[in-house]
Amino acid sequence: MPLQYSEIVLEHFRNPRNVGIIEDADAMAIEGSPACGDQIVVYLKVDKETKKITDIKFQSFGCASNIATGSMLTEMVKGKTIDEALRITWKDVAEALGGLPPVKMHCSVLAVDGLKSAIKNYLGEKREEKFTKEDLVNILSKILYPNLSIDIVSLKMVNYININEKGKVYIELVVSPEDPFRNHIKEEIEEKLKKVPEVKEIEIKFVY
Ligand code: FES
Repeated sequence: MPLQYSEIVLEHFRNPRNVGIIEDADAMAIEGSPACGDQIVVYLKVDKETKKITDIKFQSFGCASNIATGSMLTEMVKGKTIDEALRITWKDVAEALGGLPPVKMHCSVLAVDGLKSAIKNYLGEKREEKFTKEDLVNILSKILYPNLSIDIVSLKMVNYININEKGKVYIELVVSPEDPFRNHIKEEIEEKLKKVPEVKEIEIKFVY
């Protein structure tokens, strides 16, 4: 059965905005999706005084949904401050596109992750790095339960989280032992958290 795309998705896919490279970018990032292996590259120009994103371009090596999301996302963040841009979620972009088929939600996650990585690179050393519970929830809310394409936080699979001062992350998950994706979810969380320099140790426990 063909995928059902909204008119907005189709329009942004056919005429994507802000595609390309910014040669003198202030920051860029390449981000890959653990779900499909596709990539997106995001370039930023930021006004040093106002911290507003004055220009943004992207190159997608993903699918139609990723191109449409990159197009919509770059339109949404242009002119916003980096703090405002960091508050945009993949759900906001998917909503602005009139929705995405559930199996394509991760393409939207990929685009937003690309933007966040580019901003992180821009902030570089200037930002005092501290990994908070909020950052952890952000990461967990981007992990989609396969088949449903709903994130594990919305599905109330995360029972408890904690981060201690030594960088140990502790997570309790409510996932049935019969769930075929139990280990897949655990591995995806570990994979994401291993990329965070402040996370030194990960313990994931199933409470069911
Ligand atoms: Fe990979 Fe959409 S399937 S980005």
